[in-house]
Amino acid sequence: MSETNTMKNTDTFSPIRWDSDLDTLQLLDQTVLPKEEIWLDCHTVEDVAGAIKRLSVRGAPAIGVSAAYGLVVGITGAEASNLRSRFDEVSEILGKTRPTAVNLRWALELGRGIFDGLVEKHGEDPAAVRAGLLEWADKVHHEDIVTCQQIGDNGAVLFAKDDRVMTHCNAGALATGGYGTAVGVITSAFNAGKLGKVWVDETRPLLQGARLTSWELGRLGIPHDLVTDSSVGALMSRGLVDRVVVGADRIAANGDAANKIGTYTVAVLAARHNVPFYVAAPLSTIDQRVASGDEIPIEQREADEVTEVFGTRVAPEGTEVCNFAFDVTPNELIHAIITEMGVLKAPYTESIAKAFEEAGQAS
Ligand code: MRU
Repeated sequence: MSETNTMKNTDTFSPIRWDSDLDTLQLLDQTVLPKEEIWLDCHTVEDVAGAIKRLSVRGAPAIGVSAAYGLVVGITGAEASNLRSRFDEVSEILGKTRPTAVNLRWALELGRGIFDGLVEKHGEDPAAVRAGLLEWADKVHHEDIVTCQQIGDNGAVLFAKDDRVMTHCNAGALATGGYGTAVGVITSAFNAGKLGKVWVDETRPLLQGARLTSWELGRLGIPHDLVTDSSVGALMSRGLVDRVVVGADRIAANGDAANKIGTYTVAVLAARHNVPFYVAAPLSTIDQRVASGDEIPIEQREADEVTEVFGTRVAPEGTEVCNFAFDVTPNELIHAIITEMGVLKAPYTESIAKAFEEAGQAS
């Protein structure tokens, strides 16, 4: 993998791009933001898988879009004789990177259908299949941005003038194809003149809030205050939070939502203080194959993410660690799930099923 540190500002900022000169995928390395803005060239499927695993690219929709391009990167150089086995191998490598974000499986399953269709049409012609798969990956990327804009606009309607909104982790452009889900809602509310300010939870241990959401909101000119995760109760008890909007990595058929660790704590505090709590996510984040949050696989990550702060050890040597990357907020704490198909309300089993049906995606 090689690095380029040029930053292109586009209207809809995206952390993912296909460089047609290099004919490969480039990812903005989120592990070093905001200190450095470095684009990683991904020449192999291992480059893409490594970037997903170490969170150079992260956030459920962005993982899905990267995996779509990862399929293209992975079959580059394959020959007619091994095209299918190579596709299977690449899909397996990407599929093992992160377990909670269901957009990964969503993209890989869709990609397999596209691959099969292309092989049926062109035979096992590697160049034609790769070109068709790239066209599809571009479409997945573009559609994710459009979907996020719809989510944003649907969510903004829920806001009142000068609302102070809290968000956790980063569910912005960096976590998607572009525009963001929770930050998309915040951006649309801001553009509609409704936003007072954003409370940005720092989000221990990897500080996606402090590093990434603050960076994004700064670029967008949206007023925000960064707060420690442990401030949430105090802010709410003082009446300083009007609503909460977060993203999700996987939402079960009953509306239970897995998101970055600490989200559940925010939801419980929001319920205690009568603050509406929203989850903003595309249908591609809803997994109708799992009935409830209990069935969502929760990623556990390395101990050093907790024992160290950016390379500096803060806990004594030998300290045991429990590092769940996500938690599950039960549906009864969620006031609404904001999707591209509209604002879904409880009972979620019904409203989710109806949204899929209306989108023509009934399972
Ligand atoms: O571990 P991360 O940084 O990938 O976790 C990201 C989140 O929890 C996001 O809130 C979620 O993926 C939604 S992104 C639109």
